[in-house]
Amino acid sequence: MPVPKAELHLHIEGTLEPELAFALAARNGVTLPYADTEALREAYRFSDLQSFLDLYYSLMAVLRTADDFTELADAYLARAAEQGVRHAEIFFDPQAHAVRGVPMGVVVEGLGAALDRAEERHGISTRLIMCFLRDESAESAMATLDAAKPYLDRIIGVGLDSAEVGHPPAKFREVYEEAARLGLRRVAHAGEEGPAAYIREALDVLGVERVDHGLRCLEDPNLVARLVRDRVPLTLCPLSNVRLRAIDVLEQHPLREMLSAGLVATVNSDDPAYFGGYAGDNFDAVRGALGLGEEELRTLARNSFEASFLEDDEERRER
Ligand code: ADE
Ligand code: ZN
Repeated sequence: MPVPKAELHLHIEGTLEPELAFALAARNGVTLPYADTEALREAYRFSDLQSFLDLYYSLMAVLRTADDFTELADAYLARAAEQGVRHAEIFFDPQAHAVRGVPMGVVVEGLGAALDRAEERHGISTRLIMCFLRDESAESAMATLDAAKPYLDRIIGVGLDSAEVGHPPAKFREVYEEAARLGLRRVAHAGEEGPAAYIREALDVLGVERVDHGLRCLEDPNLVARLVRDRVPLTLCPLSNVRLRAIDVLEQHPLREMLSAGLVATVNSDDPAYFGGYAGDNFDAVRGALGLGEEELRTLARNSFEASFLEDDEERRER
């Protein structure tokens, strides 16, 4: 039995497996520039974050209807449940769909249909977090937040993703201020490829409660001390870090060092269809590569629930 855990860093578009991509392409009359699923898998050799994002955004062309999003989320939830995920806080990228003429409502209603039955079908509680693309303008992010207003009963928070370097968190100060006024929870990718200073800025300027990745915090001991003191969780994604070349090999992942330092580290899958595994696969991989013991695995699982946006009573029930 896999250890019960919460998954807090998961892009639903990054769960699009090649088989589903081809099925949706056929259904929607979209031609993919790959002969078959094998040829597509062959393309999953990334040199950095941008090389992944190029493929990730282009493959989204197959996602058109609310049913497509329902099917995508349902497939993820089934896989996650098999690997012990009991609670999932799921990111989606509305701007990446709006450019193809797929409006917010279609995405949210489609995902929502799967999430509404996730508890019953898969035994997973869920939350939805809308991410802004940081390589788009702050005006576009604000318009996206505006477009989300009719759906705020389904969206609990905002995040910040896409190409990090050159797009510091402060660019989105006003957007996050407005999100806070709307009562939304706030997270942001920071310190994946970008410097430790971006993590600091996400905390100070955006008021984030949790840092996605945060890998490079170790470059700044004062920042580490602050993250430990304030129990700011980091949603780490070990297999993603290897595939996107943030680290050379999993054996060099600083997860163990982070736990020893007292950081509230969690293990997540990021974009599992592209990076070679779901949440449980990430747990298994770090256990093997870093030789983590039972106590460390229990800490990671405990951290995942503590770092979630579940209320205390809900958290106890899930664990
Ligand atoms: N969008 C999807 N996956 C991402 C990642 N790992 N970093 C930034 N943006 C992303
Ligand atoms: Zn991510």
